[in-house]
Amino acid sequence: MHPFRTINSQDIAFFQELLGNRCFLDETNLTEYGHDETEDLCFLPDIVAKPETPEEVAAILRYCNVNNIAVTPSGARTGLSGGALPIHKGIALSMERFNRILNIDEKNHQVITEPGVITQVLQNAVKEKGLFYPPDPASKGSCFIGGNVSENSGGPKAVKYGVTKDYILNLEVVLPTGEIIWTGANVLKNATGYNLTQLIVGSEGTLAVITKIVLRLIPHPTNDLLMLVPFFDAEKACEAVAAIFRAGITPSGLEFMERDALTWTQAFTNDFTLEVKENHAAHLLIEVDGFDQDALMLECEKIMTVLESFQTDEILFAESEAQKNSLWSLRRKVGEAVKSQSIYKEEDTVVPRYELPALLHHVKTIGNKYGLHSVCYGHAGDGNLHVNIIKGELTDEQWENDLPKAIREIFTEVVKLGGTLSGEHGIGLVQQPYMDIAFPEISLNIMRSIKDVFDPNGILNPGKIFN
Ligand code: LAC
Ligand code: ZN
Repeated sequence: MHPFRTINSQDIAFFQELLGNRCFLDETNLTEYGHDETEDLCFLPDIVAKPETPEEVAAILRYCNVNNIAVTPSGARTGLSGGALPIHKGIALSMERFNRILNIDEKNHQVITEPGVITQVLQNAVKEKGLFYPPDPASKGSCFIGGNVSENSGGPKAVKYGVTKDYILNLEVVLPTGEIIWTGANVLKNATGYNLTQLIVGSEGTLAVITKIVLRLIPHPTNDLLMLVPFFDAEKACEAVAAIFRAGITPSGLEFMERDALTWTQAFTNDFTLEVKENHAAHLLIEVDGFDQDALMLECEKIMTVLESFQTDEILFAESEAQKNSLWSLRRKVGEAVKSQSIYKEEDTVVPRYELPALLHHVKTIGNKYGLHSVCYGHAGDGNLHVNIIKGELTDEQWENDLPKAIREIFTEVVKLGGTLSGEHGIGLVQQPYMDIAFPEISLNIMRSIKDVFDPNGILNPGKIFN
């Protein structure tokens, strides 16, 4: 049963009156806003609304709250858990017109931005002032900062610099009932009441619509070094990760790519500059950064000493900016490359770093049991492994029957290792069936109660995180 009211001509008249030509009913817009980057899922909204001010967002939410119409906030639609899919039709609330950086406050190392700014555009703007906003999801060239806040995105730099939540000081949000509030203050320390700011971060657009974001910034490092390390054994590569940290080094990137992840991406990008030998089972891409080149060289030497015990082949040191960019570009394109190969299902498993070899082992053992091939890559330094399960030649029946069982087994092992379902992609639509593995009913009920306080009529991004 559809719990929401169907859009009628009066509703359309209301949105047209409010937004003028920023209210869209055409097939192109509806289709565009019907999907994100999650598998091949598509759910068309009835209307795409593109407000420009918090007051317009408030008017939309007030109307939908009173009239029982579903509203799905939407950023750049690069999400990987279906958080922006309008599964209950209604309004796709596009935040793309909120695309201004409002103030780079150099004196306080802060930036105030609207949510529809592309993350890399924001990073470049603050970099011009010598400042650094580190979180850098693979989609940084197209994703919006607002989406990053909603999903608490990570990316390769998280291992040294933390994830999106670590940079959020304050948010202006519109509540589903139409009030506009600030959640905190523009300060580095805040022990004033419940932390509403961090409650909104990672809430996947289910509690409020973000209209302004205050981020803290840090000085931009001036130097970095990058190396690519081939391993003969993938589990050994995973073991080497914790050993590097135990040697006292915190790399600014420590990424794992299984053989297929790298070779499929080479084929996808048609870039075979890098030689991947038959016996290379996996690679680690390791970056160190800072302000002192000699210190970084020393760190690299220490890393090489650690790696001596882990059966590596010859290490490649990037010699130019171009080579660094091309190695990072290969890594960033793995997701797209896998997607282009086959129907697939992606999991965003995360465990305590030292348990990474055990995680990989379980993924492969469970995969073998069900005859499911997986391609693994991700942010090894964070214990965050993207597990892409490939449909390939499997029949629809095998895929539909065995996949949920295998995923449930993988997540069960993840939680036993002290980990959880998602490190950075969120729960959204597609990971909901597994929430009971991560949380007992009592915890899920606390979350549902919080949702009810913010959104008593359940109109905002319904059907996400939990049902
Ligand atoms: C990546 C995305 C998929 O790490 O999170 O490439
Ligand atoms: Zn990732």
